[in-house]
Amino acid sequence: MPYQTLKDFDIKDKTILLRADLNVPKQHNTVTDTTRIDRLKPTIEYLHNAGAKVLILSHFGRPEGEQNPEMSLAFLTSILEKQWNIPVRFAPQCIGDVAKDIAASAKSGDVILMENVRFHKGEKANDPEFAKALADLGDIFVNDAFSASHRSHASTVGISAFLPSAAGLLMEEELNALTNALETPKKPVLAVTGGSKISTKLGVLEHLIEKVDYLVLGGGMANTFLYAKGVNMGRSLCEKDMKDTALEIIEKAKKVGCEIILPKDVIVVKDLKENAEHRNASVDDIGEDEMAIDVGQASIDYVNEKIRVSKTVVWNGPMGVFEIKPFDNGTNAIALCVKEQTLAGQCTSVAGGGDTVAALENADAADDFSYISTAGGAFLEWLEGKDLPGVQTLKPSETKNKKTGS
Ligand code: 3PG
Repeated sequence: MPYQTLKDFDIKDKTILLRADLNVPKQHNTVTDTTRIDRLKPTIEYLHNAGAKVLILSHFGRPEGEQNPEMSLAFLTSILEKQWNIPVRFAPQCIGDVAKDIAASAKSGDVILMENVRFHKGEKANDPEFAKALADLGDIFVNDAFSASHRSHASTVGISAFLPSAAGLLMEEELNALTNALETPKKPVLAVTGGSKISTKLGVLEHLIEKVDYLVLGGGMANTFLYAKGVNMGRSLCEKDMKDTALEIIEKAKKVGCEIILPKDVIVVKDLKENAEHRNASVDDIGEDEMAIDVGQASIDYVNEKIRVSKTVVWNGPMGVFEIKPFDNGTNAIALCVKEQTLAGQCTSVAGGGDTVAALENADAADDFSYISTAGGAFLEWLEGKDLPGVQTLKPSETKNKKTGS
């Protein structure tokens, strides 16, 4: 293991600064998806039961260094208590005298949610003074926020220069699942990558062709590749200026033996709306006034054939406009094939990033993937092969990793 974990430390009566990602979707003071909260529960229970004093550090939204009541974490206290079934107190400051008093009064097993770290400019700037002010509150830093670890901020990176640091249980789970999927996978590996633009996923595509045997492209990204190959895409979403880049990626993929799988047929419409009139067209038969908005049946069959021979599947992004029915059909059919293969023990499947989880939930497949990452942007950066600063910093050489209490 290249980093220390919670279990390497004696944490009884120690004050743990736990970096969590409580940047959850909120509507009228309720949380519309509690996944990130629920996935933290094992770490919270572990720390609580082991008699640690837990100070939770998190950001919420992007308040840009201002104290913005709309982005206060206070509303979450009762929701965390309910989801974790453990009392949670709220500290209205994450540094300064109030924070110090609250930290000093904490008893073994207490769980305290500190106010939004992004209320301070020093957080985003990774200011050492702010990082030290956070570090001064505790004995050990535990990062359990994989989904915020692509940010080089004070509470994800800077703080570990001042404290012994460890990965939390969720961080460990994410790193193990993602490493198994791309670094040490069972082959063949198939990646499904969708979404609207290749310009935002160039790094992902370039890294994936080096790592996987099959790269399935869907959504607007596939349209750009088809256009680059000379296909008339009509009025489809397409980045014409990315033609040369797409052709370069196709060439590179050929050289490294990665099969890029583009749609053979697509679902086309003239108007993009719920239940719009549509037809399944070969990619050679897209009208000037038509738009491709989902993959067609021949494409689904071919992709599913490849899924059935793959041992590892990595999924990021939908195959079409899955939010508008029935144009979720391609995404659903392919996701259900991955689900079936996973349940049959034939493949390991990992998904994450942005719209992905919503698309898999819509397909009723999310619960049966081997692993769903809690990360959006961090998952994408990991797919690009980048070292995430918040993970890098957990390596013993980067932190004040003297074991405490042992
Ligand atoms: C996320 O929701 O992906 C993380 O919490 C990171 O949030 P950010 O993009 O505002 O840094």
